Amino acid sequence: MKKTIVVILMLAFVACSTKIYTPTSANVNKKETATLAELQQGHDIFKEKCGKCHKLPKPEKRNAEQWTKVLEKMGPKAKLSKEQVNLVYKYVVNF
Ligand code: HEC
Repeated sequence: MKKTIVVILMLAFVACSTKIYTPTSANVNKKETATLAELQQGHDIFKEKCGKCHKLPKPEKRNAEQWTKVLEKMGPKAKLSKEQVNLVYKYVVNF
């Protein structure tokens, strides 16, 4: 019985958090030049910094142009360096 409750709580938790893709070699250079290591760093920064004030936005929901605009605004909000913004950009456009 206790186990059932734990499983239900875990499922509820998973359902609430936004699913974002995990970069693989298939995502390398898909839209913008990026190594797998860069995509992984971008993924980690995005996951850690961009879901603090609102739900994590889905990378697939915006195109490169829209992401450029969003990151101009959100980069400073998340206190990211230029390099970090660039890594997040590479991650969100290479889905
Ligand atoms: C300090 C809080 C804060 C952090 C950190 C933050 N955001 Fe936001 N974000 C906001 C607020 C407030 C809004 C809504 C108002 C606005 O658009 O300025 C917003 C809106 C957005 C939107 C919708 C904008 C639109 O015009 O559709 C996106 C996409 C977004 N954020 C992405 C990000 C990303 C990516 C990061 C990480 C780099 C991030 N946010 C980090 C506060 C934050």
